[in-house]
Amino acid sequence: MGKTMRAAYYEEFGELDNIKTGDIDKPEPGEGEVLVKVKAAGVNPVDAAVARGMLKDAIPTEFPVIPGWDVAGVVEENGFAARRFKEGDEVYAYARRPKIQHGTFAEYIALPESYLTRRPEKISMEEAGGIPLVGLTAYQAIFDAGSLENGQTVLILGASGGVGTLAIQLAKSVGATVIGVASEKNHSYMKELGADEAVDYSDTQVGQQVDKLAPNGVDLIFHCSRGNSLSQCMESGVLSNNGKVVSITKSKPDESWDVNYQYVFVEPNSSQLAHLAELANDGKLKIPSTKTYSIDETAQSLKDVETLHNRGKLIIKP
Ligand SMILES: NC(=O)c1ccc[n+]([C@@H]2O[C@H](COP(=O)([O-])OP(=O)(O)OC[C@H]3O[C@@H](n4cnc5c(N)ncnc54)[C@H](OP(=O)(O)O)[C@@H]3O)[C@@H](O)[C@H]2O)c1
Repeated sequence: MGKTMRAAYYEEFGELDNIKTGDIDKPEPGEGEVLVKVKAAGVNPVDAAVARGMLKDAIPTEFPVIPGWDVAGVVEENGFAARRFKEGDEVYAYARRPKIQHGTFAEYIALPESYLTRRPEKISMEEAGGIPLVGLTAYQAIFDAGSLENGQTVLILGASGGVGTLAIQLAKSVGATVIGVASEKNHSYMKELGADEAVDYSDTQVGQQVDKLAPNGVDLIFHCSRGNSLSQCMESGVLSNNGKVVSITKSKPDESWDVNYQYVFVEPNSSQLAHLAELANDGKLKIPSTKTYSIDETAQSLKDVETLHNRGKLIIKP
């Protein structure tokens, strides 16, 4: 019998309570792969959506599925021809593969070495495990798609959550002005991260409040929330003439909006992860984790993350 490891897994899509914990085969690193001992894994809303079968037509699946796409951990073994890392190196990765099967809510994961980057060593393993998916999402949305630059103003809808926490800090790292939108209980949190202004979506019309704060319009709206904040902002015309909207939650603009609009779905990118690690080591990125869970608490962590009212990151520690 081969070696086993503890993992959370499910054998069909459906309710989150279908997720079990048990001993399953420990992966062996194949050609060009590295076996990583998982130390911390960020929990993301997409993990719950995948478990419920909401992405089943978009990404092929093989059961049993171990959930989890974020990882920070330690290199345990190199597969054939994997040479970039040595045993004991501390790494992190966004571990989404072309097929949904092997995730990070487990003691080990084998990944192609090209997915891995040295983790930021000046922050905790726990914080590092919360960066990859949300960090890459914010990076690709505001820099690659949004071309945000020094001196511009960005409006972040959903700025206190996992993606928003990183987006505020990345925007400030290039010298942009940030208006963050979240409920009032998160306003001091957003300001501590660097937001210049904080707006409450539950209070009055979000667009009217933003209009008062940025009478010349904002250069970029980064839409990383659900709810109707984006429609309210479009109705109020808060975007400047050459402004852009980048969304990660709404694939197309409404027909009536005449706008430069882009939808982003986050891609693995280890050189961007290396840049995020530099920023974290320079003290420019903080990743507050509000709650940690064991692998046995995976179902609860997914129920909590899908409320979409979390501050910072939820983390699983195997
Ligand atoms: N396309 C992609 O590649 C991609 C990647 C990552 C995430 N996503 C999606 O992006 C969304 C955010 O992810 P996340 O991990 O950041 O979630 P999260 O941690 O749950 O954060 C959600 C944020 O939205 C805020 N919010 C809730 N209702 C709002 C409203 N009506 N108007 C404005 N803000 C509101 C929350 O603030 P309060 O807590 O104060 O309510 C919180 O700041 C999720 O839907 C996720 O599935 C997509």
